Amino acid sequence: MTYFPFPKSSKYTDLNIIYAECSGPGGLQLTEFMADKMGLCAGARLLDIGIERGYQTCILAKEYGMHVIGLDPDDDRSDGLPHIEHLYRNARAWGVENQIIGLKLGVPETHFAAHTFDFVHSTTTLEMVRGIFGAELYRQCLIEIYRILRPGGIFGLGEPMHLDAPIPADLAPVYTKGGGVGPEGWAECFTTVAETAAVCRDVGFELLEADNAPAAWHWWDEFSRNDPHCKADPEGEAKIIRQDGGRWLTYGYVIARKPQDKPVQLTSQKLS
Ligand SMILES: C[S@@+](CC[C@H](N)C(=O)[O-])C[C@H]1O[C@@H](n2cnc3c(N)ncnc32)[C@H](O)[C@@H]1O
Repeated sequence: MTYFPFPKSSKYTDLNIIYAECSGPGGLQLTEFMADKMGLCAGARLLDIGIERGYQTCILAKEYGMHVIGLDPDDDRSDGLPHIEHLYRNARAWGVENQIIGLKLGVPETHFAAHTFDFVHSTTTLEMVRGIFGAELYRQCLIEIYRILRPGGIFGLGEPMHLDAPIPADLAPVYTKGGGVGPEGWAECFTTVAETAAVCRDVGFELLEADNAPAAWHWWDEFSRNDPHCKADPEGEAKIIRQDGGRWLTYGYVIARKPQDKPVQLTSQKLS
């Protein structure tokens, strides 16, 4: 089922493969949604942050003609290989190995020169940084992204978020349980669109668009049914997502531009 046309990603139909190679709700539809919102165009310099196995990085190269640098500091939780090894495996399979470079590093310490990229894309990654390391490191990641974008460059941020509503009482115990994502679990990882947009604005970005994705709940539902870790443990995340049923969980995005003529603002610590 699609909520509106996804002509590029709808060519890739095997959800078992997509969710085995991606990690998080939305798979290739999410990437197409973000790419179109960002206005990605062939020949531009794109950085993809938090690529996992790089499947989504490959669709950006294949379907949008992008040359992409993909960053990921970690190793695959299934086979222990660096994620960038999987990126290169997928790039060969997609026939885009000449358009992709993978680097085993992460934000906020990218070491790129200022103004290197036309576009920076990151989905389902920075919320984990917030959950595990806190809001200040999250903010440092955004400051770094701002620094390495050229003036006028576009940042597309997609994150699991929650609706602007209290956690339903029956879900509070599970959403506030740590489980490797900080003491408060998903409750601490996820914010609302307005809160995330405020941090982007605070570090200097000009907001072009910020909202919940229209297909958010479809993506979560699809993830819960097809992600291999959900399938292996139906009483874990999959059960929580089903129990939520779209009452609190959503998927939000921010499309932001680095202004042409404004310096980075490093003064405010406020989140909202
Ligand atoms: C849940 S996966 C998201 C994959 C994909 N972008 C998506 O939307 O499904 C998050 C990835 O972010 C990576 N990651 C964690 N900390 C990071 C950091 N500080 N900088 C860049 N990537 C990071 C993890 O290793 C993991 O591969």
